[in-house]
This record gives sequence, structure tokens and C-alpha cells, in this order.
Amino acid sequence: MNTIVLALILGSGLELDESLITSKKLLFEDKSGIHHKLVFTCMIGDRKLLVFRGRKHFYEGNGFESITSSVRTASEMGAGNILITNAAGGLNENFDEGDLMLINSHINFIEKMNHKRSPFPYSKTLQEIFLRVSGEMKIKVHEGVYGCYSGPAYETSGEVRFQKKIGLDAAGMSTLPEVNAAGGLGINVIAVSVITNLLKENFPQHTAHEDVLNISKIASAKLNAILPGFVSELN
Ligand code: HPA
Repeated sequence: MNTIVLALILGSGLELDESLITSKKLLFEDKSGIHHKLVFTCMIGDRKLLVFRGRKHFYEGNGFESITSSVRTASEMGAGNILITNAAGGLNENFDEGDLMLINSHINFIEKMNHKRSPFPYSKTLQEIFLRVSGEMKIKVHEGVYGCYSGPAYETSGEVRFQKKIGLDAAGMSTLPEVNAAGGLGINVIAVSVITNLLKENFPQHTAHEDVLNISKIASAKLNAILPGFVSELN
């Protein structure tokens, strides 16, 4: 039996390219709620993945135990590594829509939880592999600080101003509960944001959820280009 080398949480609109995968085995499906959720195992080359398409959010009324159930499942199924992705608003002036950002630190604005947390919950080794492979594929990957808010509304211009001032590079509504839970379970963690829209304080944004989904489809192509090389280096 192959062991799972990577658990993968796919954020809003991110899809795994069916042509990359074999031996897909559906474990769970839930069409209720905003996000159509699927849990499946599959192979990319000779590496086995456990994939969570869609996640539970705080703004849907879920508690932290529920939001992090995917991470506990990954741990129970023996995954030693997890790649957590999300859709996020870009605050850094150098970012464009559709860019990828490796999260190298974060500020958690919804944190009221008991998980053990570490000052640096991200795996240097996984980050190095991800950046090397994306470089080989000529795909630009930024690095930056992610801020997690409860949502569901996007930021006001005043909040954007504040977020830029405190040094956030991207803002979103997910990921950090899973990051902290995975760290607490001893899973190696890497997290990547897809910049689906740019947050500008002078131009109040009316970002439609559909636009976010469209851009994240484009960004999916980048993630799919990096994944085979990335997983081939995991044990
Ligand atoms: N803000 C918060 N969460 C988000 C955004 C945003 O601009 N875009 C996608 N998720």
C-alpha cells in the first residue's frame, strides 16, 4: 500500500488538473454550502495524495474543530506533509491578480483557539522544494505575510489602509486554523495564496465571488504545473 506523501487543501476555485492524476478514489462529497466539497485520494506519478477540494469556513458558522477536521483526517490517514492553499486579496504593490504567494508568516485576526502554535509553523524544507520547482517551471512565486479575517465581506478601504500599514501582503478568510492544527499534529506545513484580486485603499473594491473564482482557475494552472515536480521530491 502506498503511503500518502501529501495532503492538499484546495482553496476557492482551485482545481487539480484531471490529466495529472490517476487512481482517483472519492472518499466524501458534500454539495451543501457555498463550496462544493470533495475528498479523494489520487496518484500523481508514483506519489499518493489526499485531496480536500473546498473547505469549511468560519464565516459559514463553523467552529474551529469543524474547520480543522480535514487536517485530523490527513493525520489519521498518515500524511506527513500538507499543502494548504487559499484565495486571497493582494495588498503588496508588486502583486498581480493570478499571482501565487508562499505564506512565510501570518497574523491571525480570528484566533481564539487552543491549538499549540509555533512562531514559524511552515516547513523550510517544503518551501525550498516549492520555490525551486516553481523556478524550474519559470513560475513566479512571491513570499509574504498573510492576514486571516473572519469574513465573509471583503475589506473596506479603511481596512485596506490599515492592513497595508501593518505589513500584510495578502488578506483572506481561511488557512490559519488548518496551519496551526497541522503543526500541532506534527505534519510538515506549506501554505500558498492565490491572489485573486488586488486590494487598493483609494478604489473601494466590489470584488465579486465569481471574479475570484475565475482568476483562481487561471492560477490553478500554475499550481498544477508545480505539483508534479513538488510531490516527486516528497517522501
Ligand atoms: N479579502 C479577503 N478574503 C479574500 C479576498 C479579499 O480581498 N479575496 C479572496 N479572499
